[in-house]
Amino acid sequence: MKLTARFYVLLSLAALTASCSQAPKSEGPVYLDDSQPIEARVEDALSRMTLEEKVKIIHAQSKFSSAGVPRLGIPELWTTDGPHGIRPEVLWDEWEQAGWTNDSCVAFPALTCLAATWNEDMSVLYGKSIGEEARFREKDILLGPGVNIYRTPLNGRNFEYMGEDPYLASRMVVPYVQEVQKNGVAVCVKHYALNNQEAKRHEYDAILSDRALYEIYLPAFKAAVQDGGAWSIMGAYNFYKGQHACHNEYLLNDILKGEWGFDGVVISDWGGTHDTDQAITNGLDLEFGTWTDGLTMGATNGYDAYYLADPYLKKLREGSASEDILNDKVRRVLRLMFRTAMNNDKPSGSLCSPEHYDAARKIAGEGIVLLKNDNDVLPVDLASVKKIAVIGENAIKMMTVGGGSSSLKAQHECIPLEGIMAAVGDKAEVVYERGYVGDVSGNYNGVATGQDLSESRSEEQLIADAVAAAKNADVVLFFGGLNKASHQDCEDSDRYHLELPYAQDKVIEALAEANPNLAVVIISGNAVAMPWVDKVNAIVEGWYSGSQMGHAIADVLFGKVNPSGKLPFTFPVKLEDNGAHALNAYDPQDLTVEYKEDIYVGYRWADKQQIKPLFAFGHGLSYTEFTYGDAKVSKNSVKAGADVSVSVDVTNTGKVAGKEVVQLYIGDEQSRLERPVKELKGFSKIALEPGETKTVTFSIDPEKLMYFDDEKHEWVLEDGKFTAYVGSASDDIRTQVSFEVR
Ligand code: GLC
Repeated sequence: MKLTARFYVLLSLAALTASCSQAPKSEGPVYLDDSQPIEARVEDALSRMTLEEKVKIIHAQSKFSSAGVPRLGIPELWTTDGPHGIRPEVLWDEWEQAGWTNDSCVAFPALTCLAATWNEDMSVLYGKSIGEEARFREKDILLGPGVNIYRTPLNGRNFEYMGEDPYLASRMVVPYVQEVQKNGVAVCVKHYALNNQEAKRHEYDAILSDRALYEIYLPAFKAAVQDGGAWSIMGAYNFYKGQHACHNEYLLNDILKGEWGFDGVVISDWGGTHDTDQAITNGLDLEFGTWTDGLTMGATNGYDAYYLADPYLKKLREGSASEDILNDKVRRVLRLMFRTAMNNDKPSGSLCSPEHYDAARKIAGEGIVLLKNDNDVLPVDLASVKKIAVIGENAIKMMTVGGGSSSLKAQHECIPLEGIMAAVGDKAEVVYERGYVGDVSGNYNGVATGQDLSESRSEEQLIADAVAAAKNADVVLFFGGLNKASHQDCEDSDRYHLELPYAQDKVIEALAEANPNLAVVIISGNAVAMPWVDKVNAIVEGWYSGSQMGHAIADVLFGKVNPSGKLPFTFPVKLEDNGAHALNAYDPQDLTVEYKEDIYVGYRWADKQQIKPLFAFGHGLSYTEFTYGDAKVSKNSVKAGADVSVSVDVTNTGKVAGKEVVQLYIGDEQSRLERPVKELKGFSKIALEPGETKTVTFSIDPEKLMYFDDEKHEWVLEDGKFTAYVGSASDDIRTQVSFEVR
């Protein structure tokens, strides 16, 4: 049971006042006086700590906590997963459930869904809500968000991240960081860096150019640190330049702490620490999850055997390790403590509140992407349909359990069928058919969904029954996609292929044959192949959207919410249309992963190779239409370093109100080093009533025109012609204008 910071402080104050009878607060130790600047408190606390106490606080004491300094009234630090909600309590030294009954949570949408909103206000709402839940559960560090770039559609953890574009991820991660931390809870942005696949995640060495590192894989982390003010960062499992990312002189000392000035704590991923000397000198500050016996599971209570525990203490005592480096680690951990556990004016948080359920529904509603909608199959008009056939396992399967460390014990999860039934009420009949059998498990880490998904019918029978239901219905809603089972969207395993699993293609083709009034809803955190795309009139990406998934998807399908989501990553027609796969630069067996596609990730690759994607980065339809006027530039020629702006009028020419994400891409027509055709450098989500026009203006500061010259190791702005492309998707540019930089 964690004693609150206040309790410890009161305890130590009581001890102090007892000894110095009614001493006024200001004469107490500086570190206990939260009116003092944090740096003064850090130095004061550090000066009072013994060598043993210093070493004690830079490694774990339990599965998810690290020690404080009881003698000084400094409490321990508690961490919790994950990026989408607050993980249920586990036993002190185990992954297994502690069996609490007051640790259920609201499951917020997966971060792919948040990214798909392209709306920073949603990120504010998300960070505020999840931060309140973490605070209420008395957690000091939230182990999220994740911002690893989507390099391959097979990566098992893409659902936890924010897509393929560094600019989108950078914009969307900052409010989440800021809002969580307003609760006195630190974020722990992960997994820094280059954890872009799960295959061999503890072993592979990522090989790539500095150009790709700085332009594609680091920006979201840099934004989280420099703009978001992140208080902690989690090292990744993989190697980079031959050193584990959790203790890596390049990523941690040179870039994160050197170039970016990070003043927070580098926390290892659980089991990501492998060497005392490297952990000491290469930037690791707080070691968690080490399996000290070197096998898969930890020696019980082996915390003193951690790399930054007794082995480190021994070196310090021998004088073969510098106390200066130790003090830097301890300062960072103390700083984090004073920002969180010892911060006495933080809010008290809340758990499972109506506001949090509303937030989950609102974010999901803004993130759901309408991919295709021919013949206006959607929205379903409840006044005109009598029978709705809901088909597919993903209409009933709970998705908040499973998938790895982001798995949750949701207080409630509204599955799609429930949301549809609630929306339809008695206006129409709703029938359900399984259609296919996917993953019938419903238990992760001791949390059970309670669902019985067992099924005795054959594949053929299931399809026959689904087709029969579809034939007799006015509209058919198929829910398929992936799930959180191993080798689907799941930590520690990648997918084997781009295709939908469980023979869903057969079901979809049969349904399309049976009834053209078919909408296919893909529940996934990754792109999937759609060989039937021309046979299906309506397609929706519903994401893993958490506790309110069912209500959010029903809101969109029945038109209560006009969809405004845009894809945060490309849906390629086939795997080879993706750069990493086209260049054979992804092999789940390889221990060396060479990022041969370099900076050409996602739409950058599609543009370069002139490949038409199935659905492009930034794509998403609406139930209304938007027209764009001609882009206007503030100056046709600007001096290097001066701002330039591009404006465009956008009009809602349809019949219903809607939101449009106006996207700005920049193309550099002349550059010493080759650059992508265009790169996302701005977006703005605007709400428009029917007939309404708004002017969107993008300010293009010099940074948006630069690229990273890795021969000079600096960002460069070169003279020459640039083109601003403005549109509704990366493959739907509506207008463009060029300007000259002198
Ligand atoms: C896991 C994950 C990391 C998680 C940590 C604690 O292995 O890689 O994202 O926060 O361990 O569960």
